[in-house]
Amino acid sequence: MANVVVVGAQWGDEGKGKIVDWLSERADVIARFQGGHNAGHTLVIDGEVFKLSLLPSGIVRGGKLSVIGNGVVLDPWHLEKEIAQLRGQGVTITPETLMIAENTPLILPIHGELDRAREAQNSVAKIGTTGRGIGPAYEDKVGRRSVRVADLADDATLEMRVDRALVHHDALRRGLGLDPVDRDRLLADLRAIAPVVLEYAAPVWKVLNEKRRAGKRILFEGAQGALLDIDFGTYPFVTSSNVIAGQAATGTGIGPGSIDFVLGIVKAYTTRVGEGPFPAELHDADGQRLGERGHEFGTVTGRKRRCGWFDAVLVRQTCATSGVNGISLTKLDVLDGFETLKICVGYELDGKRLDYLPTAADQQARCTPVYEEMPGWSESTEGARSWADLPAEAIKYVRRVEELIECPVALLSTSPEREDTILVTDPFAD
Ligand code: IMP
Repeated sequence: MANVVVVGAQWGDEGKGKIVDWLSERADVIARFQGGHNAGHTLVIDGEVFKLSLLPSGIVRGGKLSVIGNGVVLDPWHLEKEIAQLRGQGVTITPETLMIAENTPLILPIHGELDRAREAQNSVAKIGTTGRGIGPAYEDKVGRRSVRVADLADDATLEMRVDRALVHHDALRRGLGLDPVDRDRLLADLRAIAPVVLEYAAPVWKVLNEKRRAGKRILFEGAQGALLDIDFGTYPFVTSSNVIAGQAATGTGIGPGSIDFVLGIVKAYTTRVGEGPFPAELHDADGQRLGERGHEFGTVTGRKRRCGWFDAVLVRQTCATSGVNGISLTKLDVLDGFETLKICVGYELDGKRLDYLPTAADQQARCTPVYEEMPGWSESTEGARSWADLPAEAIKYVRRVEELIECPVALLSTSPEREDTILVTDPFAD
């Protein structure tokens, strides 16, 4: 299979970084297709820790092309910082190894300000965002008032684009009690950063299609998770992009038929950062223990993640909406030592049993989980590299997960180390 899409199949933070890194070693091109620097991917390579928010994970490996697709929203100042940080760690970044789609919308400082001003109001509008301006930048994209990468190349166009955006933003800011935008400063800042971005600007859709025709392996690296998808997530407590696998096509400019395998990353339990419904959430000692053992703190914001048992209903749903061919199950070792494990296998709503999460927000909030109990295991699964290394009860747990989500396990990850992986199906295999 030439082209693989990796998506988070829960609320993000499923441990995509390690798997993407593992796959990117075998890919020729690694492309981001949605989100922005709200993502937080941690890679550990030969003991060195790399933290990425915006750049594709392939950037840390030599000889690969990393691509930022048009489905991403790009903060140019963050880009500059992340490039500098990685260069400081010895990573080579050139226009041959990094390309940014010319039609990528920019995140401007006014987007971050707006995001944070709304969140600070502490009203019903609060989402618990990362405060990085992601939502407002996507609003401007569909509102047809973005400044896009290509606009940085021509000063007259840049001015026009900024003025178009400010008609909207100044009106909005008046309502929020914020000062009008300092147009001259914004333009000066954009002019100053333009060369940094333009160095990498390219017709990404064309490059990717050429690579595809030449038989190169393309890895599409998703950020966040399918339950944060703007259409299929727990709206409005979602991010502002499509996160599901179909976005890999729209967010880079390849046809949907070019996707050969969709790998869903699934944590062996459930976590969520920010507000919003979470039927299997635990507020007890078990939840506390999952959080502590799993080091469940946000990579970007440092916030404590909410924890709960594995919710098979939600993962079955996200495997369906992303057309997942196989999952990578991560962090199984966090469940080591629990006497009994629970899996959410359905919901009860108004006396009725449901096998999916309803769309209406009030119904989502009222869904109570129906659990199935399974015996836990006392042995350690950390670092297991073959099925034979796993206790029988752990294998039963994994098999039950497969049955319930109606999707097979392709990979099993048993520690942050890349070698600690059990491979069942190679997504890139022919
Ligand atoms: P935004 O993407 O900053 O607008 O935040 C919207 C929601 O998505 C919030 O609940 C965030 O916590 C969540 N979110 C955004 N990015 C990530 C991520 O990479 N992992 C987990 N949650 C995320």
